[in-house]
Amino acid sequence: MAIEGKIGLAGGGNMGSALLKGMLAAGAVRADQVVVAEKLAATAQALSEELGVETVSDAADLSGLSLLILAVKPADVPAVTQAAAGALSPESLVITLAAGVKRSTVAAALPQDQPLVRAMPNTPALIQKGATAISGDGVAANYMDIARQVFEAVGVVVQVPEKLMDAVTALSGSGPAYVFVIIEALADAGVRQGLDRQTAMTLAAHTVAGAAEMLIATGRHPGELKDLVSSPGGTTICALHELERGGLRGVLINAVDAATCRGKELGGD
Ligand SMILES: NC(=O)c1ccc[n+]([C@@H]2O[C@H](COP(=O)([O-])OP(=O)(O)OC[C@H]3O[C@@H](n4cnc5c(N)ncnc54)[C@H](OP(=O)(O)O)[C@@H]3O)[C@@H](O)[C@H]2O)c1
Repeated sequence: MAIEGKIGLAGGGNMGSALLKGMLAAGAVRADQVVVAEKLAATAQALSEELGVETVSDAADLSGLSLLILAVKPADVPAVTQAAAGALSPESLVITLAAGVKRSTVAAALPQDQPLVRAMPNTPALIQKGATAISGDGVAANYMDIARQVFEAVGVVVQVPEKLMDAVTALSGSGPAYVFVIIEALADAGVRQGLDRQTAMTLAAHTVAGAAEMLIATGRHPGELKDLVSSPGGTTICALHELERGGLRGVLINAVDAATCRGKELGGD
């Protein structure tokens, strides 16, 4: 199902351009529907040459939008929203993906009752493997469907109440960083046991990717899949014992707790 009408993307940086490329590749939108407001001239030119989309240098030059996607830095969101508000009708949907910026902050820069969805994507969206949470407490289902379509173009989408957005940010928003540390540590372990760095990194990264893909593809519980690799008296159970002794589960839970608290602090809660 394609998204109808004119689409404005404010901010054609990392996340904005990844989203746009994903939407075009998935056939969710056509290039001739899209106008990108991007103040960096070189970025705007590259997007227009690569994707064939129209660009403007100022969000105030957008007009007649059925969908506005705010993909500028969090600090720029209020001013850019205000600048783009003239391009909206009461039926236009606004999607904000700025980390830590509440819907109420964006809503304050918009006409009253403008449909508004907040989204939290993560960096694997840059390679269409993202995990995005969307929230729009009180927003009509047809608008939530459009938001879902936007982010399904760059990965998987879940819907949560806005009060859980700090938890989402701490789990999947920051999560790629935790996994990168785990992969690096596994590669270090391989090097310690005599593997060369590149071989160890290849094995570590593909083991994490393969295990995650297997979990998703089979739909089985991770504990069950873990049991399948742990033969009695074998090597894996020895390693699992060390992971439990080191408190890996507790460490990960504490890490997500800490990130959630910091998110609340930054959001002024
Ligand atoms: N990257 C991620 O993994 C990720 C994950 C979740 C959420 N997000 C959110 O996505 C948003 C964008 O992040 P990003 O990583 O894509 O940042 P980015 O690469 O810096 O992209 C933002 C772009 O918007 C441009 N811009 C700023 N003000 C503008 C204006 N008034 N009119 C038009 N364009 C304007 C910026 O230009 P200048 O550089 O000149 O300011 C920049 O090119 C952020 O709010 C972030 O919190 C990102």
